Amino acid sequence: MTIRVVQWATGGVGKAAIQAVIAHPDLELVGVWVHSESKHGKDVGELLDLGPIGVIATTSKDEILALDADCVVYSPLLPDEAEVIALLRSGKNVVTPVGWVYPDLDKSAAILEACAAGGTTLHGTGIHPGGITERFPLMVSAISASVTHVRSEEFSDIRTYNAPDVARHIMGFGVSPERAMGGPIVDLLGAGFKASVRMIVAEMGFDADPELESLQEVAVATAPIESPVGIIEPGQVAARKFHWRALVDGVPVVTASVNWYMGEEHFEPAWSFGPEGERFEVEITGDPDVKVTFKGLQPETIEEGLIRNPGIVVTANHCVSAIPYVVDAEPGIKTYLDLPLLAGRAAPQVGLGRAR
Ligand SMILES: NC(=O)c1ccc[n+]([C@@H]2O[C@H](COP(=O)([O-])OP(=O)(O)OC[C@H]3O[C@@H](n4cnc5c(N)ncnc54)[C@H](OP(=O)(O)O)[C@@H]3O)[C@@H](O)[C@H]2O)c1
Repeated sequence: MTIRVVQWATGGVGKAAIQAVIAHPDLELVGVWVHSESKHGKDVGELLDLGPIGVIATTSKDEILALDADCVVYSPLLPDEAEVIALLRSGKNVVTPVGWVYPDLDKSAAILEACAAGGTTLHGTGIHPGGITERFPLMVSAISASVTHVRSEEFSDIRTYNAPDVARHIMGFGVSPERAMGGPIVDLLGAGFKASVRMIVAEMGFDADPELESLQEVAVATAPIESPVGIIEPGQVAARKFHWRALVDGVPVVTASVNWYMGEEHFEPAWSFGPEGERFEVEITGDPDVKVTFKGLQPETIEEGLIRNPGIVVTANHCVSAIPYVVDAEPGIKTYLDLPLLAGRAAPQVGLGRAR
């Protein structure tokens, strides 16, 4: 049976998810919600320069809720729990890169109730968090023993991330150091990464302090820097490091870190990615130590990244690859710890080309 899929929002993740759904042998795109009025009523294929595909974008949430569909890839700018609840209650499973990777089930009564009412499942995924942060470290940890530290770390040039609202309001670029270091930005970002750290702590059995440590540093521009959020003026935030850590007796046992830079020039302090360049790393300290470096998740050039950023594409692919497993799962919130091993699918020219 083909699985009927809806895409919610057509930003970078949404557009890549639509392409992944079209390429997936088990999935069919049946609806698309858009935030932008200018996209309402347009054929989704034309919005993506693919030519018409017969699916018309709508700004109407009611129209999407009324659709006969099995799963929604939910990737708006910011999560709205009421929307997710309505989708789940309407009988649609939800996969999303905007949260719920490892939610506290004791604080998720409304979602769990909607899952029970709709017979549906919610799965939070992504890449960082939602992959590099916890899924891949947990997998790699299985080939080590007596583990004393688990680290995931991103080194990315954020000039290639064509989502100015996310870069400014969620990641905190182009604002004052005080604003970047303060309230909502850190809390918004930290919520996701901390949940991932907690997942590793719980699954691997670290006797860690319940309070996680959040560390952040900023580098400011020393000269104007061109970026997707506009010119970053001297004194504004141009590079960021975050570390979220679980500690045992003051010693880190799980660390999730990001290094997000608008280039590698004109910073104070003068940070750089070093000779290895942009990458993601997963490192397990144990018997033996194991380190995995992921390349290919960052674009070769800024121009390429602004058109189709592999980091965004893999985020979308991770959502879409999960769909068949999420649709098969029992109702409720299901994390990587609950679902079977998730895999991608063969390309049409080398695959069976039919729903399994
Ligand atoms: N976990 C991960 O690893 C990961 C990785 C990348 C991104 N993300 C998250 O995924 C989400 C989407 O990222 P993206 O790169 O696709 O961002 P994006 O390119 O900025 O797209 C966001 C889309 O959301 C819609 N939108 C804009 N303003 C909105 C509003 N006020 N309310 C509701 N929707 C609004 C728009 O959809 P239309 O164009 O359809 O109108 C917009 O294109 C973000 O929350 C981001 O933080 C997570």
